[in-house]
Amino acid sequence: MSKTVSQSPGQESPPDTDVATRRAFVWAALGAAGVCYAGAIGYPVYRYLASPVERAEAESAVTEVTLKDAQKLPLGSVLMFKFGPRPSMLIHHQDGSWVALSAVCTHLGCTVQYQPARNVIHCACHGGEYDPVTGKNISGPPPRPLTRYVAKVTDTGVVVSRT
Ligand code: FES
Repeated sequence: MSKTVSQSPGQESPPDTDVATRRAFVWAALGAAGVCYAGAIGYPVYRYLASPVERAEAESAVTEVTLKDAQKLPLGSVLMFKFGPRPSMLIHHQDGSWVALSAVCTHLGCTVQYQPARNVIHCACHGGEYDPVTGKNISGPPPRPLTRYVAKVTDTGVVVSRT
């Protein structure tokens, strides 16, 4: 039993090497697309998982920040600054005392704001509030006080360091 393949005159069947080359190209293109797709999905997942570790390393690397000319901060006002990657605040209270606190809410990590008129630190995300002197959580969902730093006033600025 033999099979006969008819072919019209002038029509040539592609050589086997051309077919193999096209198949290899299609597979290579699919492989490259697969790698790009995996990267597009995998990189954000990697960043999401790795960022807390990187953040913790960056935070622990910084032990002191000098805020130049911050000694001139008026009474009852606040200066926002970064302690490493962490938003932080330096408050110059009406009684002349200085308080440096992390500005990262201990509930879900929003940046909190000092409200001098109410003398409270407020988180706009879920209404959490903190004592602006001690950093203690006083109402709302925050489970812990704000991290407190040591603030030392010098002639040229305020040096904020870990306790
Ligand atoms: S993140 Fe601040 S109260 Fe929820």
